[in-house]
Amino acid sequence: MIIEPVIKGVVAKSAHPVGCEQAVLQQIQYVKQSEPITNGPKRVLIIGGSSGFGLATRIALTFGRSKADTISVSYEHGPSSKGVGSAGFYNNIAFKKFAEEEGRIAVNIQGDAFSDSIKEQVIEAVETYFEGEVDLIVYSVASGVRPKPNSDEMWRSAIKPIGQSVSGASILLETDTWQQTTLPPATDQEVDETIKVMGGEDWEAWVDALINSESIGEGCKTLAFSYIGPELTHPIYLDGTLGRAKIDLHQTSHSLNLKLANFNGGAYATVCKALVTKASVFIPGLTPYILALYKVMKERGTHEGCIEQMQRLFRDKVYSTGKIPVDCERLLRMDDRELDVETQREVNQLVSQLNADNFKQLGDYQGFKQEFLRLNGFSFDDVDYGKEIDLESWINSDA
Ligand code: NAI
Ligand code: NA
Repeated sequence: MIIEPVIKGVVAKSAHPVGCEQAVLQQIQYVKQSEPITNGPKRVLIIGGSSGFGLATRIALTFGRSKADTISVSYEHGPSSKGVGSAGFYNNIAFKKFAEEEGRIAVNIQGDAFSDSIKEQVIEAVETYFEGEVDLIVYSVASGVRPKPNSDEMWRSAIKPIGQSVSGASILLETDTWQQTTLPPATDQEVDETIKVMGGEDWEAWVDALINSESIGEGCKTLAFSYIGPELTHPIYLDGTLGRAKIDLHQTSHSLNLKLANFNGGAYATVCKALVTKASVFIPGLTPYILALYKVMKERGTHEGCIEQMQRLFRDKVYSTGKIPVDCERLLRMDDRELDVETQREVNQLVSQLNADNFKQLGDYQGFKQEFLRLNGFSFDDVDYGKEIDLESWINSDA
């Protein structure tokens, strides 16, 4: 078959296996030519390792000097009557292939991270492949839902402001159009459910499960990712439902830090830069900011993608000699370049000019759209998209 990009609103409905492999390969190449991570961990568990920051973590630690073995949990789907399958599914296949070529262990566990059964499956894999212990646990799940235990119901996260409505613009990637939206304030229940889905509870459940099964190695660290952003984005992010969930995650990092102190390890909420991922394009009101931010940071030469952020995180912060640097709230900050004063001054100026007619010219819409397409394996120069691809044999030859 020939696979074409299909986008509905801001959601990709198709993915190209060859392009996904290309995306993984480019990140591997970046890591190999970049200044190495020394003293890195050897046995790494990534929860949410099939795309975005989680996949970049996996690549940085496997293909750099750290040469880590990895177990990754993700929620992805292969081809079915509904379509070709998700990009993360193909990323998993590509990662495993390249990692095994270099003699690394790369275990992909697909299923719901929130469930007990997947936690048990991972603990078994840690027994089998890691001699029973992990050195690093990275929690990088981004989800809209979480099944309630022992029930058919779900908690659903909402992306809404709190206490007031907020207006902003989304950009429909499907039609390249700017859509002005007003988001009503969240109800208390929506706030609570967002905290259930995107807060720290499941991160803590993972670490507890691993402590209880005696799977924590000496010095084991755990990280989860957060976002704070500049004032401009606070109404929709930090002061809204997602921000509440992130504050919960920050608090969880403190309790996990105490628990892991027993193993001479630690826990860190890591604040990253705003980036185009499957998860972030979903946030209404954030896109104009990202278009302006990309434009300004690229011009200033300070732009980073997921892989650049993760390589710098592990090399300069987590596994450099000396103490892990944190701010006064004990957060590990990777958003310093985004929040640079001069950068933000320019971004503010640009955002205030953006509108439905000029966002493609003034903002970095081209870069934004291309990055989104590439997340799904499209828009790579050296992939022949006209070539027939047999999914069945692709999956079998690589798996
Ligand atoms: P992503 O959508 O690229 O990755 C999410 C991962 O979670 C995927 O591997 C997916 O398979 C997995 N996942 C989703 N539901 C799951 C489930 N039920 N069970 C198992 N795995 C599941 O998202 P991204 O952007 O890498 O997000 C990761 C974290 O980084 C999130 O906490 C997000 O809030 C945070 N973050 C993202 C920023 C951004 O601009 N993209 C900025 C700062 C933080
Ligand atoms: Na991720």
